[in-house]
Amino acid sequence: MGITDAKIKETDVIALNTDHVNRFVSEQEIAGAMPGAFDALQSLLRHEGPGSDFLGWLDLPRTPEREIGEITDAAKRIQDENDLLVVVGIGGSYLGSRAAIEALPEETPFPVLFAGNNLSPEYHSRLLSSLEDKRFAVCVISKSGTTTETAIAFRLLRGKLVERFGKDKTGKRIIAITDPDKGALRQMAAEKDWQTFPIPPDVGGRYSVLSPVGLFPCATAGIPLAGLLGGAVSGIDRFTRTDASNEALRYALVRSTLHGRGTIVEVLSTFHPELALFCEWWKQLAGESEGKEHKGLFPASTVLTTDLHSMGQYLQEGNRNLLETFLIAANPRSDIPIPHDGDDLDNLNYISGKTISHVNRKAFEGTLAAHAAGNLPVMTIEVPSITPESLGVLFTFFEVAVAVSGRLAGINPFNQPGVEEYKTRMFKLLEKPGY
Ligand code: PA5
Repeated sequence: MGITDAKIKETDVIALNTDHVNRFVSEQEIAGAMPGAFDALQSLLRHEGPGSDFLGWLDLPRTPEREIGEITDAAKRIQDENDLLVVVGIGGSYLGSRAAIEALPEETPFPVLFAGNNLSPEYHSRLLSSLEDKRFAVCVISKSGTTTETAIAFRLLRGKLVERFGKDKTGKRIIAITDPDKGALRQMAAEKDWQTFPIPPDVGGRYSVLSPVGLFPCATAGIPLAGLLGGAVSGIDRFTRTDASNEALRYALVRSTLHGRGTIVEVLSTFHPELALFCEWWKQLAGESEGKEHKGLFPASTVLTTDLHSMGQYLQEGNRNLLETFLIAANPRSDIPIPHDGDDLDNLNYISGKTISHVNRKAFEGTLAAHAAGNLPVMTIEVPSITPESLGVLFTFFEVAVAVSGRLAGINPFNQPGVEEYKTRMFKLLEKPGY
């Protein structure tokens, strides 16, 4: 049965459909490679192999109730005393929470802005002016505590807090999320007596969405943590089974087999614009984890149908060195019927009475069939709908799949030595002491 015919039941947390990929990677090949994926998964679960001191993310879905309570209480205080929260962080220190918040507009009534993720003067001056008449708090997130983009934005925002509310009233508007013991931010927070939450030392940035790094901004925005973590618990249990039906292992095997045969780009395509930032989170997770030793699929993304009018041509007829993975939600959270028009000058009455989500679904099914017919390996990851629970499932699905893919490629998925290269050269150019 093809994914387009499948009825996703509310109880199905995720459906992976590889029917259209089997022409390129057969079921026999997947079955033959499965023992290698089991070994890779088991080495992760036994905390062995390269990067084994960065496996704390496997335990994050089961965050203790006491910690969830502390995060929820702090989030409630910030909501009660402010009009908005500014989250300052870059890379793994903001992409996960932003992905969840943008995916769940219904669950996030409290405004959260993101800063510290670029060096644009225009962005920073617009941000500072937008805060002129707002009661705001700042959540600064940095594991190392020394990241330049984060530190610059945080310094500017501290200045704005002092200007707006006075030096004595600034401290209660700052929450710092950083290493529990070391780093400049930890030291600053201790000296200034800011409220803090720890980033577990055995959790790397891009694997930290279910730690306070993601949970505090999400809770402040309004996302129920029980839903997000509940989905993550069911996801981590499901995707760490040494079982041939484990979707994360099957997905990892398809991508690594195709990569071994010359596929160099994986495009994550979604038909839900609210998942655009989720795709950015996935790009960081996959790119920073797997792009090493001149290996790894280059992770790209498209938001459809928008990008069918820009990248659709390439996907249909361009270089066949791509794999396309569709990320789909079966059911919309809300819907709108297309109205009937007596004149029908726009010739749309043939779909009047149908909903926009119905048309979106048919666009997905048509695109899947077209790209498959265009000789592109395509697969589909489908969740029932975009909810805190399904996001929890998706976060854990991709975390396990990328970790296993990295292990299959023989690299350490949990370090990022290449990121230092630009920093060293930039610091030298900036004449930072010691460079
Ligand atoms: O995944 C990673 O480790 C990186 O993307 C980091 O999250 C990013 O560089 C920010 O680092 P830090 O939290 O130390 O400021």
